[in-house]
Amino acid sequence: RVLRGSTVNFLANPRTNGNEKSTVYIKQGALVLGQAGRILWQGAFSDLPTVYTGLPCDDFGEQLILPGFIDAHIHFPQYRILAAPGKDLLDWLNRFTFPEESRYSSSEHAATAAEVFLDRLFTNGTTSALAFCSVHKACAEALFSAAEKRGMALLTGKTMMDRLAPDAVLDDPETGARESKELLDSWHNKGRLKYAITPRFAVTSTDAQLQLTGELYRDHPDCIMQTHLSESPGEIATVQSQFPWSKDYTDIYDHFGLLGPNSFFAHGIHLSERECARLAEAGSTVVHCPTSNNFLGSGLFDIDHVGNQARPVGVGVATDVGGGTSYSMLQTLGEAYKVAMLKGRKITAHDAFYMATLGNAERLKMESEIGSLDAGKWADIVVLDPKATPVLESRQEVSETLEDILFSLMILGDDRAIKATYVAGKSVYKKQ
Ligand code: GUN
Ligand code: FE
Repeated sequence: RVLRGSTVNFLANPRTNGNEKSTVYIKQGALVLGQAGRILWQGAFSDLPTVYTGLPCDDFGEQLILPGFIDAHIHFPQYRILAAPGKDLLDWLNRFTFPEESRYSSSEHAATAAEVFLDRLFTNGTTSALAFCSVHKACAEALFSAAEKRGMALLTGKTMMDRLAPDAVLDDPETGARESKELLDSWHNKGRLKYAITPRFAVTSTDAQLQLTGELYRDHPDCIMQTHLSESPGEIATVQSQFPWSKDYTDIYDHFGLLGPNSFFAHGIHLSERECARLAEAGSTVVHCPTSNNFLGSGLFDIDHVGNQARPVGVGVATDVGGGTSYSMLQTLGEAYKVAMLKGRKITAHDAFYMATLGNAERLKMESEIGSLDAGKWADIVVLDPKATPVLESRQEVSETLEDILFSLMILGDDRAIKATYVAGKSVYKKQ
């Protein structure tokens, strides 16, 4: 199959490589998707090799063909609780989140929910995600199975939590580690799936649980490790009292061996210079979740502090649904822009779209497989309609540079701007 449209390929980090130079934009472009789900060829339509000219063609005119979005932090069992009005993070968790996650002990419920959840990712142009499940093994089984059927690159794991939550969402250190290991053995590197070792956060795990979690990560360093870090003032005060010996929040995870190049720490809003330096040294990633941080009043992430070029911590970007208020990576990037503005920082549309595609892929060490439209990579693709709404359309009467089009999409766009989504070369969503 041939896709025809304006292709946009982000090749390197614009913050370190000179803005816009690292993006290849072909207005009359084309992609060839192979039978095996990979991109066979990409370039200008006029250069399409004759062997491909007879293939069926999806012609998107001047709409934008981009690598599919990668969501670096999202909670599958929270898909129904967007917009639950908590006073702050801990209140929101206790009143809305833990009761909702308790439903995922049921395989039937989890299996039905997984289909809804993955459909929702696709209608928002998200083709890969690093996701949290609930504490229940059945929840992770359901999400892995559903993702496998759809041929997508999904990274997830059973959440581990053994204190300070209702019994229905607790495990214990041994069960948590054993079930994680069983899931890891079944699913890690099965097709495009990867296992993520997932302690929820230091608040809800005892020393014993964090200890066993660290040992599991040490035994399986090629898995992802994901957790939450330094999100809200109430959370930080709680962990300080729980781990009085620690230098700071990051030091707790460090102590148990949870820092490493495959470690993903969601939020990281209130990190000290020491914590950033240590995270940078470890090669870990901090995941910026702007809609969630604003919704829960957690704080304003400072991208130039965490990503300080003198000792940059890798920064990913994510929705954090259901603390986050949108599945849309476009809306998420728009919110990241506004948060940067409030901190006196600047991110361009090129920076933002790079982060949501190749940037997140590089953080996940999957950049040889996804994140751009290069031949050989998986054909995980989103098609954006820059004129999806009247407001977008009138904006483009004023400017049609690529930066301005992308910028208007991230400030004004949402799921209505998603024209089509492809995963492993298959059409998985088409706007009517
Ligand atoms: N910290 C611990 N658990 C959660 C969660 O589910 N969402 C958010 N935003 N922060 C958390
Ligand atoms: Fe989260």
